[in-house]
Amino acid sequence: PLRIAILASGRGSNAAALLAARERGELPAEFVLVASDKADAGALQLAQLAGIPTLVLDPRDYPDRRDYDLALFERIAEHKPDLLVLAGFMRIIDGDALKPWAGRMINIHPSLLPKYRGLHTHRRAIKAGDAEHGASVHFVTAELDGGPVIAQTVLRIEANEDENSLSARLLPLEHQLLPAVVALIAADRLALSEEGVVFDREPIRKPLRM
Ligand code: GAR
Repeated sequence: PLRIAILASGRGSNAAALLAARERGELPAEFVLVASDKADAGALQLAQLAGIPTLVLDPRDYPDRRDYDLALFERIAEHKPDLLVLAGFMRIIDGDALKPWAGRMINIHPSLLPKYRGLHTHRRAIKAGDAEHGASVHFVTAELDGGPVIAQTVLRIEANEDENSLSARLLPLEHQLLPAVVALIAADRLALSEEGVVFDREPIRKPLRM
């Protein structure tokens, strides 16, 4: 099965959704590592309960971002993942550290990319008067939240909505979107090619698996 490493910084509800999808038999994959930049990340506790190896590297122990990122991804590589899933990993990653993972790292971002890269996406969508908001899963490139989009989930912004209500309504949709994308990758039905994101009904010839 596809070997997956999850990176998460915060609450960990998207990581939980991935583990739950596997428990339900909807994700033919093996979680080989949960890594974090924060010792108190929720995803680490979940991993420990599930018997998945964990890794915490504190950015404050490194002189700069590049050194940290190179060290982090070197340690992650020891677990030989095929795919890295950023599930609420709240750091910008150095381009050189990303390079070995081109086409093998995905991220979930709470906006309808290319709208609202970066932070405070819900607030910005409401303030702009948008009729719709959503979340995107995309392949990670050196451009922040700028890599090729794989799939999106959309919801209508209601009258009198604030960022808390909007993010609370979006979150359960994220919990469906991310495992669904990972399941397609695990089934070799989704990959990044030179032409962009490729989907297929049948397993594609250039699978992600190494
Ligand atoms: C999610 O809403 C995710 O889309 C977002 O952080 C939240 C993490 O929640 N990610 C980003 O903003 C990435 N720039 P979780 O820790 O409960 O999964």
